[in-house]
Amino acid sequence: MNVVILAAGMGKRMQSALPKVLHPLAGKPLLQHVIDTARSLKPSKLCVIYGHGGAAVPEMVGKLAESTGAAIDTALQQPQLGTGHAVMQAVPQIDENVPTLVLYGDVPLTTADSLRRLVEAAGSDKLAILTVEQANPFGLGRIVRENGNIVRIVEEKDANEAERAIREINSGIMVIPTRRLKSWLESLSNNNAQGEYYLTDIVAKAVLEGVPVVSAQPSAEWEVAGVNSKVQLAELERRHQLNIAIALLEKGVTLMDPARIDVRGELVCGRDVVIDVGCVFEGRVELADGVTVGPNCVLVNTRIGAGATIKPFCHLEDAVVGDKSQIGPYARLRPGTQLGEDVHVGNFVEIKNSTVAAHSKANHLAYVGDATVGSRVNIGAGTITCNYDGANKFRTVIEDDAFIGSDSQLVAPVTVGAGATLGAGTTLTKDAPAGKLTISRPKQMTVENWKRPVKVKK
Ligand code: UD1
Ligand code: CA
Repeated sequence: MNVVILAAGMGKRMQSALPKVLHPLAGKPLLQHVIDTARSLKPSKLCVIYGHGGAAVPEMVGKLAESTGAAIDTALQQPQLGTGHAVMQAVPQIDENVPTLVLYGDVPLTTADSLRRLVEAAGSDKLAILTVEQANPFGLGRIVRENGNIVRIVEEKDANEAERAIREINSGIMVIPTRRLKSWLESLSNNNAQGEYYLTDIVAKAVLEGVPVVSAQPSAEWEVAGVNSKVQLAELERRHQLNIAIALLEKGVTLMDPARIDVRGELVCGRDVVIDVGCVFEGRVELADGVTVGPNCVLVNTRIGAGATIKPFCHLEDAVVGDKSQIGPYARLRPGTQLGEDVHVGNFVEIKNSTVAAHSKANHLAYVGDATVGSRVNIGAGTITCNYDGANKFRTVIEDDAFIGSDSQLVAPVTVGAGATLGAGTTLTKDAPAGKLTISRPKQMTVENWKRPVKVKK
């Protein structure tokens, strides 16, 4: 099968410099949703028609093709003279021995199941249209039937009153026998209300030539909903998020409110996972059995081990959290953070590019960057690894059972030996030997007979 995706339209109502099909839905460009669904049908040819927005669309398609190692063709439609004219641009690229599925780059939520039904209905020699009965069909092409058989499609602007009363609409998604398609496209005219070459005119041509025209229906109306404005984009985003939330609930995940979760990527959950309101998941996030995520957390490309708790207001990115760990509230785990089992990271603690082994704690106000932290280490409040001299970064090593007193600075590269203790306020510039107390602050003294200055009255 060939797939042709129409994405040359301008999207004026988006009021944006970004081409419409590149606007993100669930963190992914609209067009990429369509390409991903198309690919799940394993087409032999995939061609994206672009036009408005210059090089941005083919660039995005090129990157996608490169990163996935599959070929995606592009064809420029300039100027944009209608949907029929758009499909004409793909003609040199498509294989005439297999049918062609036409999709729209701004209709992101069509399911592969519905498309498969349409492809099946078309077989090798029929024209199949994905149609929907809509309460408000305004603006859309109407399916005209005689004795139950589809005979043509009429656009809103060309329709008479009786035709405008038809509620079965053309989604625009069709499967067409390709050799026929080529000849029909050659004979299209733009003699209509919009002066465009309508793809929809091929339906009447098929009927004239005795090619059967059939239809299939999606399981829901939102599957064929297009995005023309930010309002429609926001509506489809909520619809999509609700679909994801329902799928999570069906798998046994507890969502405190299915209307208040945003998954912009892939969220994989074990059993008995609880997610509170206002959380955002980006990229691939894995929550193992028994994980609880408190309200208002953002997790990006992160793996959380079994039984761990993420308390409210945490931001985790490219991090791994061990089983039974406790993170937050207000913790930040930056890329390259790897925490072992039962690690406690408390409020206003930032960890970056560091490993922290089992049972270690940094409970309050600390920065741990470029560090290797052993097991059962206690990092006191206000501790900072000074990992950066303005040009280079250095590692800090804290071995097992070390105790870092509050408000210490560890000037990397530096090592704190196993079981070592740093006194509070230590500025460590040389290695601290294992098992000993190291302290760098001057001895405390008291000045006798000292008096506070007093204001002299004038
Ligand atoms: C088209 C259909 C209409 C259907 C509706 C569904 C035609 C003539 N009409 O309407 O029956 O109900 O879709 O939404 O086909 N595009 C191009 N190049 C062009 C024109 C459009 O690539 O020259 C792309 C657009 O980017 C968009 C899609 O084709 O993705 C549909 O275009 P749009 O203008 O939204 O639809 P209509 O032509 O109004
Ligand atoms: Ca149009």
